[in-house]
Amino acid sequence: MVDDVVYMKRAIELAKLATGHTSPNPLVGAVVVKDNTIIGEGYHHKAGTAHAEVHAPCALRIIEAGIAKVIVGSTDPNPLVSGKGMELLREAGIEVVCPVCSDECAELNEHFFTYIQTGKPFVTLKSAMSLDGKIATSTGQSQWITNESSRRDGHVLRATHDAMLVGIGTILADNPQLNCRLTDSELSDALLDKSILDEPITIHQPNVIILDSLGRTPTTSRVFEINNRKIHIFVSKGCPKDRIQALEQVGAQVTVVESISTRKSKSTDIVIDIKKLSIDDILTKLGELGYTSILVEGGSAIISSFVETKNFDKVVTYIGNTIIGGNDATPAVGGRGFESLEVSPQLTFTKTKVLDNNIRIEAYRQGRRGTYVHGNR
Ligand SMILES: NC(=O)c1ccc[n+]([C@@H]2O[C@H](COP(=O)([O-])OP(=O)(O)OC[C@H]3O[C@@H](n4cnc5c(N)ncnc54)[C@H](OP(=O)(O)O)[C@@H]3O)[C@@H](O)[C@H]2O)c1
Repeated sequence: MVDDVVYMKRAIELAKLATGHTSPNPLVGAVVVKDNTIIGEGYHHKAGTAHAEVHAPCALRIIEAGIAKVIVGSTDPNPLVSGKGMELLREAGIEVVCPVCSDECAELNEHFFTYIQTGKPFVTLKSAMSLDGKIATSTGQSQWITNESSRRDGHVLRATHDAMLVGIGTILADNPQLNCRLTDSELSDALLDKSILDEPITIHQPNVIILDSLGRTPTTSRVFEINNRKIHIFVSKGCPKDRIQALEQVGAQVTVVESISTRKSKSTDIVIDIKKLSIDDILTKLGELGYTSILVEGGSAIISSFVETKNFDKVVTYIGNTIIGGNDATPAVGGRGFESLEVSPQLTFTKTKVLDNNIRIEAYRQGRRGTYVHGNR
C-alpha cells in the first residue's frame, strides 16, 4: 500500500532524530494514523527512556486503544523480543503488515542488528586517501588529502557511531581532537529527508578508543580537551603501571588486553614475531560495554589489523583529487596483506558519490549488508 510506505518513511525520519543517542537500543519511530490523518507520532529518544511506541502507544496499549492495523518496518532480531509484539497484536485480532521499507529499516539499524546478534559492535573502516591509496606523504603529511565536503561527510560518520577508534601512531603524528565538528542543523541536513521532516538533530559526540600497547598517549593530548565523552585506552600486559595511572588521572579508562602475534617471517634465518593487541578481544570487550558501533579512522597499521582479521562490516573511503605516489608514503592499508585473492575479503559496493572534486565510496564486506535481516547478499 502506498500509504503504508509514506507513513513508514515518516516513522524512519522520526527515528533518525535520535541518531547516536539510543545505543545500545535501536532507533525506533512510530506514527498513529486515523482517517488518513496523523494523530500521534514519536520516537525512542535516548537509551533509558521509553520506546517510540510508548510516545505513540506500545503493543498492549495498541490493543487497548482499539487500533485496527499495525504496519511494522522490520522485526527486532533480539531473541528476547523477536516477533513477540506482533504475536500479541495478531492474537488480539489486529491486522499486522510486516515488513514495509525493510531495506531502509535494515540500514537505519544496521549497527544494532549486528550488535544484538553477535554481541560485538558493527565496525566501519574510514579512510581519506589519494587516488593511489596513500593516507599520508612520505614526510607524514595527511592534512588535507581530501576536501572540506569529504571531511564534513566524515564528521557525519562520527556522529552516527558510538565511538571512533585510532592507533597511537595517529595520536602521536596528528594530535587530533577526534570530535564531531558539525552543528545540529548540518547533521540534520545530511541525514534527514527534508521533504518529510525538517528538525535539527542533537549531535552525539562519539567516545574515543585508542590502541596503545605501552600507554604512550601523552596526557596533554587534545583528545582529553573534549568534555562529556569517554576515552578508552587499550594497552598490553607489558604497559608500565605508572603510564596506566597517569592516563587514568586525566580521565581515561584503561583496559589491559591480550597481545597476539601478527606476523611470523618465513625467512629461514630471521624470525620476526610482532605482537599487537588482539582486535577480537577488544571488540568483545567493547560489546560487553554496550558499544553497538565503532568507526575505525586509522592509521595504516590499525586499519590493516582490522582488515587482516576480517573484523569489519563496512568501508567508507574518501578519495581526494591527488596522487601522492612513493614507496615510503603511508598506504591506506599497511601490514602484511593477503597472499592470494582467494582469501582477501570481497566487497559489495553499495554507493558512490562525487563530493565536489572528491569521491566517496561505500562498500560492505561481502555478506555483511543487512545480513541479520535478509540473509547474506
Ligand atoms: N588519511 C587518513 O584517513 C588518516 C587517518 C588516520 C591517520 N592517518 C595517518 O596515518 C599515519 C599513522 O598511521 P600508523 O600506521 O603510523 O599508526 P596507527 O595505525 O595510527 O597506529 C599504529 C600503532 O598502534 C598500536 N597498535 C596497538 N594495537 C594494534 C593492532 N592490533 N594493530 C596495529 N597497531 C596496533 C601499535 O603501537 P604499539 O605497539 O605501541 O601499541 C602501532 O604501531 C599518520 O601519518 C596519520 O596522519 C591518516
